[in-house]
Amino acid sequence: MTAAEFVRRLDEDTQRLLGRLAPDDTLKPEVAGDLTVLNLLKVALKNEIEATEIAARWLVTTDDVEVKLALARQVGDEARHYRLIADRLHALGFAATAFNPLAKGYGPLFQYLDTLGTTVERVAAGQFTREAIAVIKNRQFIEFCEAAGDRETAALYRDVIEPDERHHHALGRTLLLRLADENAVPGGSANIE
Ligand SMILES: [Fe+2]
Ligand SMILES: [Fe+2]
Repeated sequence: MTAAEFVRRLDEDTQRLLGRLAPDDTLKPEVAGDLTVLNLLKVALKNEIEATEIAARWLVTTDDVEVKLALARQVGDEARHYRLIADRLHALGFAATAFNPLAKGYGPLFQYLDTLGTTVERVAAGQFTREAIAVIKNRQFIEFCEAAGDRETAALYRDVIEPDERHHHALGRTLLLRLADENAVPGGSANIE
């Protein structure tokens, strides 16, 4: 399998699996309490801090300068998302500064990503796939906010957060194409397991 084929298949598999989920299915599982914009934003804080931290952990443990820089940008973006969401929660009457989204520990996805030891695995799972999931979840959250009449939260996601997550996914694709190629073994099959 060539690198391009591998990336295309990974993309197709992800889209097919995520396409099976009904909108609320992707939003509900992590929420404590009712499915409201406020409760979903609290979950979003946890996702953003975890995305910040996993990118930071990987940044210091890769020798690949291009990957380091991609992760550095991601650390900054995800931390900015956290701040923007905390500000929005504040505007909605919730004191996010007194809230620790990691009080109950890291989630299963973070724990899984933290076990990945090679750069190609990290880029495939962490940037390419996780960010694709983020894009789909965000799209569904934007629809949810609009249906709930919260235009401001919808705009924050549509105009600021979502374009960044899309960029992370695209960067993951570019890096993965190169890394999968470099990890290819003679004879044509890529050593990317
Ligand atoms: Fe983010
Ligand atoms: Fe992201």
